[in-house]
Amino acid sequence: MSELNPDPEKTTHFGFLTIPEREKVEWVRRHFDTIAYKYDYMNTLLSLGVHYQWKRIAVRMMGLGQGQKVIDVCGGTGDLSRLAAQNVGRSGSVVLYDINWEMMAAGRPKTVAAACGDRVCHVQGDAEKIGFPDETFDAAMVGFGIRNLTHFEKGFAEMHRVLKKGGVFMCLEFSQPVTPWFRSLYDFYSFHLMPFIGKALARCGPAYCYLPESIRLFPGPDKLKTILENMGFRNVAYRRLTNGIAVVHVGKKGDGAK
Ligand SMILES: C[S@@+](CC[C@H](N)C(=O)[O-])C[C@H]1O[C@@H](n2cnc3c(N)ncnc32)[C@H](O)[C@@H]1O
Repeated sequence: MSELNPDPEKTTHFGFLTIPEREKVEWVRRHFDTIAYKYDYMNTLLSLGVHYQWKRIAVRMMGLGQGQKVIDVCGGTGDLSRLAAQNVGRSGSVVLYDINWEMMAAGRPKTVAAACGDRVCHVQGDAEKIGFPDETFDAAMVGFGIRNLTHFEKGFAEMHRVLKKGGVFMCLEFSQPVTPWFRSLYDFYSFHLMPFIGKALARCGPAYCYLPESIRLFPGPDKLKTILENMGFRNVAYRRLTNGIAVVHVGKKGDGAK
């Protein structure tokens, strides 16, 4: 079955729902259209603001330098892009790359208002087919986005392709707490309270059911490390944040030397 003519019978997951694979991009687009203008506010509320701290740690772990070119895949409203833009200085630049126009539009006022905002440019496109040539960027990062792709491995492969040799990779993604009692508490919070708060405040309960469900279906940190290594990333390491609610993986594209 060719890519242009996908198998109509093939299925995938949207949270715990099983849907035709060819429809997933559309489901994800609708999901983020619904929540775009409430996304930042809801994130801050549901994580009690901790997501900003996670993003700062993740960008710090990349060790970005002045003048570097960075791509923020699934960049959404741009928190990671703005942090990276501060680190790359005036001679550097950040491409915020996202499939969803509404998400980028919702975050754009913040980027325009930021001192480093002129270093960030927005490009709309699919992370499974990044619209840049091979070896364009010094660093490629993705925050809370890879889980939403129909084939997340394709997204990683594309990030690997657009990285220069020796370039830095970073993935910040939700996972599950390691301490059993905290995990039970988190399960209750994410499966019961989160959809309730989502429905009450953002008027979109289903969107906040999708979030915990999609997190449970995503590979855990060790498995993800192995997947990244098998894709050709080197020196892959990860750090759990807040007992494992979020995890940062960093690595490098090999320089081609044996
Ligand atoms: C949960 S948001 C994360 C936004 C931002 N990175 C952050 O950390 O706040 C996920 C983003 O992934 C984007 N996305 C989903 N599927 C995509 C795809 N196939 N290609 C590019 N972006 C995609 C969505 O539009 C959304 O903006």
